[in-house]
Amino acid sequence: MLDIKNLSVSYGKTRVVRNLSLKVNTGEIVCIVGESGCGKSTALKSVLMLDKNASISGGEILFDNKDITKLKTEEIRHLRGSEIAMIFQNSYLSMNPTKTIGHLFYETVKVHNKKAKKNQCLEKAEEIMKKLRLWETERIFSSYPFELSGGMCQRIAIAAAMMNDPKLILADEPTSALDVTAQAEVIRLLKYVKDNYNTSMLIVTHNMGVVANLSDKAAVMYGGSIAEFGDTWDIINNPAHPYTKALIKAVPEMNGKVPEGIEGLPPEFSDEKGGCPFAPRCYSAKDICYKNSPEKHVVSKEHIVYCNFC
Ligand SMILES: Nc1ncnc2c1ncn2[C@@H]1O[C@H](COP(=O)(O)OP(=O)(O)O)[C@@H](O)[C@H]1O
Ligand SMILES: [Mg+2]
Repeated sequence: MLDIKNLSVSYGKTRVVRNLSLKVNTGEIVCIVGESGCGKSTALKSVLMLDKNASISGGEILFDNKDITKLKTEEIRHLRGSEIAMIFQNSYLSMNPTKTIGHLFYETVKVHNKKAKKNQCLEKAEEIMKKLRLWETERIFSSYPFELSGGMCQRIAIAAAMMNDPKLILADEPTSALDVTAQAEVIRLLKYVKDNYNTSMLIVTHNMGVVANLSDKAAVMYGGSIAEFGDTWDIINNPAHPYTKALIKAVPEMNGKVPEGIEGLPPEFSDEKGGCPFAPRCYSAKDICYKNSPEKHVVSKEHIVYCNFC
C-alpha cells in the first residue's frame, strides 16, 4: 500500500529526514513515535508533499506501486483528500469558522467532484457518521466548529476524511490536543474505521500510550531515521534499541513514580557527521557507533532494529 524507501527530506541544506524506510500494508495502522523535533511531521507531510519549504532529497514514496515523488502537482492534488486523507492535530483550527459542519462535508467531496450535490453528500455523511456511532447528525450538520468540543471536531474530521473513501489516512498527533477521555474516543474511532473500512493509517505521535492502544506496527524514530520497526506488541514487550527501551521507561506510571527521562539532548540536524544519531546518548555506544551508520538487524520476521550492538 505505502512503501517509503530510503527517504531523505531537507529544509534548504538541512536534511531532517534521513534514509527513512517503512511500510504500511492494507488495513494496517502504523504509528511513528519519537521525541518532539525528530522529524515525524516532516516525514508524514512529505507523503503528500504538503510543505512547500521541504524538498525530497532522496528515496521514493511508493503508493500502490506509484512513486509519489515523481508525480505532477496536479496528480498529487488528486491524491490529497481522495485516495489519501490527512488529519491534523487540531482539526478545529483547520475548519472554516464561517461554515457549518454540513458544509464542510459537502466541500470535502466537491473539491474532487465538481458535480457533487449537497443533499447526496449529506446523506452519505449521515451514513458514515451513523456507522462511526456519531449521533445527532442534524444538530452537528447545522453547527459551526466553535460550537463543538475539540474532541467532537476531531471525530468529525475523521468522518469527513472518509467521505471520499480513502485507502490511506495520515494523521499528525490526532489526539495530542485532547483530554484523556476525548483521546480514548478518537483512538476507538480510528480503530473502528480501520476495522470497518479496512483503511490503512500512518499516524504520528510522541505518546507511547497511543502507540500501544492503537497501532499494529510501530516505527520508532530518532534523529530523522528509523531506530526500530516492528509489530507493536513485540516492540513494547521486547524492545531491542536502547532508545526504544528508554522511551518505554519514560512512560509515566499510575503509581506516581516519576519516570526516568532520557539524558542528553536530541541531535542537531545541521551536522552530517555520520554514525548512529543516538550514539551520544546511548549507554552501550562504542567507537564504531560514532563512525559507521547503524546496521540493520532482523530481530524476528516483523521486527527490525538499526543498531550495531542489538
Ligand atoms: N517548515 C520548516 N522549515 C524549516 N525547518 C523546519 C520546518 N518544519 C520543521 N523544521 C525543523 O525540522 C526538524 C523536525 O521537525 P518536525 O518534523 O516538525 O519534528 P516532529 O514532528 O518530530 O516534532 C526540527 O528541527 C524543526 O525545527
Ligand atoms: Mg510534529
